[in-house]
Amino acid sequence: SNAPVKVAVTGAAGQIGYSLLFRLASGSLLGPDTPIQLQLLEITPALKALEGVVMELDDCAFSTLAGVEIGDDPNTIFDGVNLALLVGARPRGPGMERGDLLEANGAIFTAQGRALNAVAADDVRVGVTGNPANTNALIAMTNAPDIPSERFSALTRLDHNRAISQLAAKTGAKVTDIKKMSIWGNHSATQYPDIFHAEVGGKNAAEVVDDQAWIENDFIPTVAKRGAAIIDARGSSSAASAASATIDAARDWLQGTPDGDWVSMAVKSDGSYGVPEGLIYSYPVTTKDGSWEIVQGLEIDDFSRAKMDATAAELADERDAVKGLGLI
Ligand code: NAI
Repeated sequence: SNAPVKVAVTGAAGQIGYSLLFRLASGSLLGPDTPIQLQLLEITPALKALEGVVMELDDCAFSTLAGVEIGDDPNTIFDGVNLALLVGARPRGPGMERGDLLEANGAIFTAQGRALNAVAADDVRVGVTGNPANTNALIAMTNAPDIPSERFSALTRLDHNRAISQLAAKTGAKVTDIKKMSIWGNHSATQYPDIFHAEVGGKNAAEVVDDQAWIENDFIPTVAKRGAAIIDARGSSSAASAASATIDAARDWLQGTPDGDWVSMAVKSDGSYGVPEGLIYSYPVTTKDGSWEIVQGLEIDDFSRAKMDATAAELADERDAVKGLGLI
């Protein structure tokens, strides 16, 4: 039988964790034949709640779950992990400014980057879901100098999936008929969901839609502000969909994108599409055997250019802020 794949999840007692752990344990990531060992990190006051979640994992009797370890020390929990899903983060509290938020998260992702650098498996891949995801990934990456930088990514797959769903609803197509969606930039309200290269049933999506006003005034804001709409409706932030996207992103990273399609992932910019080098910027990427490549050669018109530049500028600001705090 196969050796278990060790998957770390941070913030495991949180909302996303409550959905994510059960999907991971039941084989959604690597299928029914690959056992998973879960390594769960929480802050000390949340460990008791996490013990309860582990009791529930036990009670599912998942055949793919090889074992579970919990703790509050990243140097123990990240030991030998092949995949680290960094979900836990400090939420913005009352009266907290953006700088305070970056600083609080900076402390978390500095420590976790160092711990991964010291103890993770040689093949580790690190996916950051906790917000501000792109900049948290930048901090972790910078603090893990021995791990190749292309092993870090931040989650924009939820935005990607939201965009597919909106385009499917608009065109009456099935989600499986929609290919080549692109999310550019930051996982924030400045992100740019782009359908100009997308396809609906093999035809260019923007031509099928043929409604620039819908793209500008409906599609883009609906996708970019979907998180806030869910908070308004549900009273708490998206969790099951974020967990599902976290799995989709990790699965496709490890197992590859199908021919004729791509996914969106925030990865270290190499300067492609005029994005400043070194930012963790969401691009359309193809993946194969645990590696990704930015899709090249897409034509970018003035409308798209302005949106791609605006979200890059926001990421450059965040980078400068954490640099100013000495976190990178
Ligand atoms: P939550 O507040 O329910 O859970 C977060 C958990 O992280 C808590 O249990 C907390 O104790 C833990 N935590 C805090 N600091 C930690 C540390 N240093 N080490 C380990 N665990 C720590 O939040 P939820 O709803 O599960 O969301 C988690 C994060 O994901 C948030 O930052 C949220 O903004 C982000 N998110 C990102 C999305 C994306 O698309 N990239 C979508 C939705 C949420």
